[in-house]
Amino acid sequence: MTTLVIGANGQIGQHFCALACDAGEPIRAMIRSPEQQPWFEERGIETVIADLEGDFAHALDGCDQLLFTAGSGPHTGPDKTLLIDLYGATRAVDAARERGFSRFLMVSAMRAEDPQAAPEKLRPYMAAKFAADAYLRCSGVPHVILKPGRLTDEPATERVAASVEETGGENAVSRANVAHALLHLVKARGLTDREFVLLDGERGIADVLT
Ligand SMILES: NC(=O)c1ccc[n+]([C@@H]2O[C@H](COP(=O)([O-])OP(=O)(O)OC[C@H]3O[C@@H](n4cnc5c(N)ncnc54)[C@H](OP(=O)(O)O)[C@@H]3O)[C@@H](O)[C@H]2O)c1
Repeated sequence: MTTLVIGANGQIGQHFCALACDAGEPIRAMIRSPEQQPWFEERGIETVIADLEGDFAHALDGCDQLLFTAGSGPHTGPDKTLLIDLYGATRAVDAARERGFSRFLMVSAMRAEDPQAAPEKLRPYMAAKFAADAYLRCSGVPHVILKPGRLTDEPATERVAASVEETGGENAVSRANVAHALLHLVKARGLTDREFVLLDGERGIADVLT
């Protein structure tokens, strides 16, 4: 029952891997280069080196669940948004389906369902998330789509909300809280074909992600 974490070396990815490791949750961290290995090895976390732009089928070996928290990031152009956030994600969905994975957990983004509503600069990214989410929904792979709001580096509070109505308009969530939410989702194996917006708030994670 091992979870492959794609994007493990990212900010959310590392937060999540550390929590999963402390919780004894079996994970395999997909990273892009050997220089990234020591952080994981120090914590006893298994790694596999692979790239979403290449052949990454071997990364799925021995796993039955996939957490996708990769992203091309704000410092690359729409070309990488297309290749990583969209095509990389759909290839990961295909790979999970071919292996008969029990679930695919997608880190998407709040309001990805309406890219036109985003600021112009963010529209290609939102369109990529929109299409990747749609692909996953139609894939037949049991899934959970988590839609965090604007990410911050605030410490974890483990108190969250499910909508901007609930927060009185606040649209942020800490990466640390996202990581706690992902750990909850990874463990909640019976939860499938669900979608959740995630913001910092006042409620417990298990109360919101149910
Ligand atoms: N920024 C926001 O406000 C916001 C809001 C909602 C959702 N999100 C989503 O949250 C997720 C993670 O956020 P974050 O802050 O943790 O991002 P991050 O720190 O930039 O991490 C992204 C990870 O993706 C990996 N990656 C990039 N290209 C790859 C490739 N070709 N193959 C394999 N892995 C690749 C990176 O690898 P390296 O470490 O090797 O570079 C990095 O580890 C993303 O899906 C993002 O779209 C962001």
